[in-house]
Amino acid sequence: MSLIENVVRPEIRALSAYHVPDSAGFVKLDAMENPYVLPAELRTQLGQRLADVALNRYPVPSYSALKAAICAKLGVPAGHDVVLGNGSDELIAMLSTLCAKPGAKVLAPVPGFVMYAMSARFAGMEFIGVPLKTHLTLDLGAMLAAIEEHKPAITYLAYPNNPTGTLFDKAQIEAVIRAVGDTGLVVVDEAYQPFAQVSFMARIPEFANLLVMRTVSKLGLAGIRLGYMSGSAELLNECDKVRPPYNVNVLTQACAEFVLEHLDVLDRQAAALREERTRLSTALSALPGVQVYPSAANFLLVRLLPGGKGGGNSVETIFANLLARKVLVKNVGKMHTLLENCLRVNVSTPEENGLFLDALTEALRAAP
Ligand SMILES: Cc1ncc(COP(=O)(O)O)c(C=O)c1O
Repeated sequence: MSLIENVVRPEIRALSAYHVPDSAGFVKLDAMENPYVLPAELRTQLGQRLADVALNRYPVPSYSALKAAICAKLGVPAGHDVVLGNGSDELIAMLSTLCAKPGAKVLAPVPGFVMYAMSARFAGMEFIGVPLKTHLTLDLGAMLAAIEEHKPAITYLAYPNNPTGTLFDKAQIEAVIRAVGDTGLVVVDEAYQPFAQVSFMARIPEFANLLVMRTVSKLGLAGIRLGYMSGSAELLNECDKVRPPYNVNVLTQACAEFVLEHLDVLDRQAAALREERTRLSTALSALPGVQVYPSAANFLLVRLLPGGKGGGNSVETIFANLLARKVLVKNVGKMHTLLENCLRVNVSTPEENGLFLDALTEALRAAP
């Protein structure tokens, strides 16, 4: 046996590393980033703020100022706190570490955010994926049956869901939270909350097993890597035990504190993107052979219908054609059978959305 075979767990050897394509020179519409930057004036002020940060010191691990600002500005219910992560990806990893008792399982609707399954596997937990219905809505009957059968330690519900953009029905989410009861945690993942404008955050006091997880990534700060999660004090206390002590670096901390003082700027950017979402969705729906799903997020799921324009518009052909035109979207066609022939595309600035629409129109025209 080789060194790797001797040392590395077989289930990890069987995986591939998370692939991020090189996007230099492309219209980048594949990662749900906010295309807008901070105004020049604010960037100058931020530069000064960051210059004063003591880089020679470890962060103060209580993060009390940043947590207080998050709680005050981002709708955390009074008397409740948050736990911070290096992106919500780290919060997901922390939850896996917290709950990975022998035999513990993680459950989520599929297709869904891939890190739920990956993180479960990293921690040695079985992942149970419950397929959505054909129209990409939650299959409540199947969810309740799976919860009854598997008694998952963690159930994730992305609200709205990635990569479908679907906003699951509020009453169905409540039914899941109640069905899980005190046998597991239910994490409502609100990564796209600025674009959905609905939330379970205010409901935390109602449900002892509910955690609401968010990120500042989609709001416009993907580069600083900061996620936050709220829930009961007891749950957060346990989460904090598995949090690496200095997981949020001092630059992220100072930058987030600064931006939270100017949240109105990011709120306006999110509002502009919501408007663009409507415009882009309408324009895409008008293209022959293209089906657009309703989205409450900052991206749209687009299905290329077989038979549209000569039948040659497979997702591979169109994706390759878009790449040749320097437009990078996400080909999700192979992720799950429910996503056959689907692309996921960011909603961006009017200019970039126009470039995408032109490129897609040309790609469809050129399809055999
Ligand atoms: C549903 C969902 N949750 C969490 C994340 C991860 O966010 P972060 O950038 O905070 O790690 C993503 C990223 O795409 C996502 O789609």
